[in-house]
Parts: sequence; structure tokens; C-alpha cells
Amino acid sequence: MERKKRLVVLSGAGMSAESGIRTFRDSGGLWEEYDVMEVASITGWQKNRDLVLRFYNERRRQLEKAVPNEGHKGLADLEKYFDVHIITQNVDNLHERAGSTKILHLHGELTKARSSADPSLVYDIGYRDINPGDRCEKGSQLRPHIVWFGEPVPAMDEAVQIASQAEIFVIIGTSLNVYPAAGLVNYVSSEVTVFLIDPSEVYVPAGRRVEVIKEGASAGVAVLKTKLNL
Ligand code: OAD
Repeated sequence: MERKKRLVVLSGAGMSAESGIRTFRDSGGLWEEYDVMEVASITGWQKNRDLVLRFYNERRRQLEKAVPNEGHKGLADLEKYFDVHIITQNVDNLHERAGSTKILHLHGELTKARSSADPSLVYDIGYRDINPGDRCEKGSQLRPHIVWFGEPVPAMDEAVQIASQAEIFVIIGTSLNVYPAAGLVNYVSSEVTVFLIDPSEVYVPAGRRVEVIKEGASAGVAVLKTKLNL
């Protein structure tokens, strides 16, 4: 059997927009309604834990009602033809629910909680709330398993490894505003074609050739398939 080429996807909030999950920086995005530093930073957590817990409880409830869109499903289908690795900035589980099998969450996962004292204690909570007073087995408050602004990105080394071995690289639905995730494309070999699926213009660093597919995620993944001769 022929070896499958390694196709690496970097996805962001726009990937899930057609599933009804709001992006962050578009008009109507979450950071218009909320102050990012209040709800998604380590200093925000230290200042007002109740507010942060409420914010993520609401995100988790919305996720429970959301379903994967044709874009998520199209990427899962690509596994028939390619060795697909998804690096996602999204904290939802829609890639998993669409059937993709190799997914690295750079910014954490909504359906997990972790100890605020010992980061190795991570718990599956499904779509349940985390409430003030919910504690880990060592007695410290549970927090969302999310990488906040001001915190390191533990999965970054693995992401760099995956990106550097890409033979096709696809960026979908991210404004590439947030580092270190936005810098991943710099680790992709210069001979590799980079596809960019986004309805808006996105600046890709490193001055490399980018094949732009100016579409939303569902239509964009369909166009990608034709460009890959599928
Ligand atoms: P942004 O909200 O910054 O960017 C969303 C991108 O999706 C934009 O480029 C939009 O044009 C595009 N978009 C909108 N609708 C789309 C659609 N239907 N199909 C495809 N693309 C669409 O979101 P991210 O780049 O993911 O981190 O944001 C990165 C990080 O910033 C997030 O992981 C989050 C946030 O703060 C944390 O909270 C830690």
C-alpha cells in the first residue's frame, strides 16, 4: 500500500462558526461582549473566579447543543486519503465528534477540568458545570482545562514537531493573531503548499506562497478537496 502523505491542519474559531459557535475577533465575536483579560487570563482567574467559571460553563452548555459542520466532516473524510493531523486552537470537541482521530488541542478542552494546584490532575467532566467549591482530590478548586493568556502552551513542542513534518499544510478559520500558535507556519518546510481557508483576508507570516480559498469552512474544505484532486 502506498504511504499516505501527511496533511496538517491548523484550525481556529472560524472552523466552528457554521456550527453556531462564536468566533473571538469578528464583529459580533466574543471579545466584543467580554473583556478577554477578565475571563480568559490567569490574572482574570485570580481576580474573579466566579465570573470565569460562569463564562466557561456557558461555553460548555452551548457546545453541548452544537454539531459538527460539513467542514469538520470533510476533514474527517480526508483521513481516507491522507495521514491527517489536526492542530486546533479550539477548545470545542467538534473535530472529535466529526470523526477525526489525530487532534492536538493547543488551548485546552472545554469538556475537561483540572486542579488549580496540580496541572497533572485533569478530569473529564463532559458538559457539566464547574462551580465554586468543586475541588480536586487534593482539595484545591477545579478550573477549566484551558490555556489562558499569561500561561505557557504545553502542547506547543508537539505542535512544532507535527508542523515541521507536514507535506501539505492547511490553515482554517483563524485570524493568526495569537502566538505562539500563529507562528506554527514558520516551521513548515518551504517546499510545502500552504492552503488558507477563510472568508476574510488573513496575513500569513514568513512571506511564503499561500493558496487562498476565500470561503467559509464547509465550502472551503470542499474546494480544498478538488484542489487535492479528490
Ligand atoms: P479569531 O476570532 O481571532 O479568528 C476567527 C477567524 O475565523 C477569522 O479570520 C474569520 O475571518 C474566520 N471565520 C469567520 N467565519 C468563518 C467561517 N464560517 N469559516 C471559516 N472561517 C471563518 O479566532 P482564532 O484565530 O481561533 O484563545 O483565535 C485564537 C485564540 O484567540 C483562541 O484560541 C482563543 C482566542 O482568544 C483563548 O481563549 C486562549
